[in-house]
Amino acid sequence: MSRNLIIAANWKLNKGPADAAAFLDAFCVVAKDFKGTADIVLAPSFLTIPSVVTKLDGCDRIAVASQNVSEQESGAFTGEVSTCMLKEVGVQYVILGHSERRSIYGESDALINAKVKKTLAAGLKPIFCIGETLAEREGGKLESVLTTQITDGLKDVADLSDVVIAYEPVWAIGTGVTASAEQAQDTHKFVRSVIANLYGQSAADAVRIQYGGSVKPANAAELLGQPDIDGALVGGAALEAESFFGILENS
Ligand code: G3P
Repeated sequence: MSRNLIIAANWKLNKGPADAAAFLDAFCVVAKDFKGTADIVLAPSFLTIPSVVTKLDGCDRIAVASQNVSEQESGAFTGEVSTCMLKEVGVQYVILGHSERRSIYGESDALINAKVKKTLAAGLKPIFCIGETLAEREGGKLESVLTTQITDGLKDVADLSDVVIAYEPVWAIGTGVTASAEQAQDTHKFVRSVIANLYGQSAADAVRIQYGGSVKPANAAELLGQPDIDGALVGGAALEAESFFGILENS
């Protein structure tokens, strides 16, 4: 089964509207003759999203994601942003369950599951992140950790067609240490087998699984060339237009 690659830039707590505009100006210059077919997604901060959507007006090639969303609909939830608000300003994808949300902000599998369901109900597409710490991998818990994250995070999600999974080993995020292509492929294959157990083989064959963790132009081709790796979720190397484009060029 062929799955179209999806390459996403997670800008995290970087780039206000002015920096994002400068990125897009530079990106348009380097990417003007790009013939690749990968889906391209940019995930700015909530505050920066409207200006990025406006600047991309007419450029259907690039979709916009948020980096989080509330599991609530509306009301007295100070500091939250709802799926309705995201839809209203043109967001299409929502990154959920990122390891920084899990470890720094204490998001549980149950909360992530509520956010995934809220996102899907709004007609938005979750980029559902999973990944193990180094201690978990070295302690032989890789498979049980990922299985729990998937089973609990996707609980009561009947249809995976709008879900993208992002496998991001925590030890490879922002460290410069990338999982080897073999480690990443083996883990992606395992993730797909968990999905096959839960949803059947055809859903597993169709679901896209991105790899994230120190992806850069120099390692993108090898990682993206693996049979079960269907894209990349990129942090640091997506902050500069040239290096983000270098990853796309190697896709
Ligand atoms: O979501 C992307 C991410 O966590 C990977 O970050 O900086 O290792 O590419 P980085």
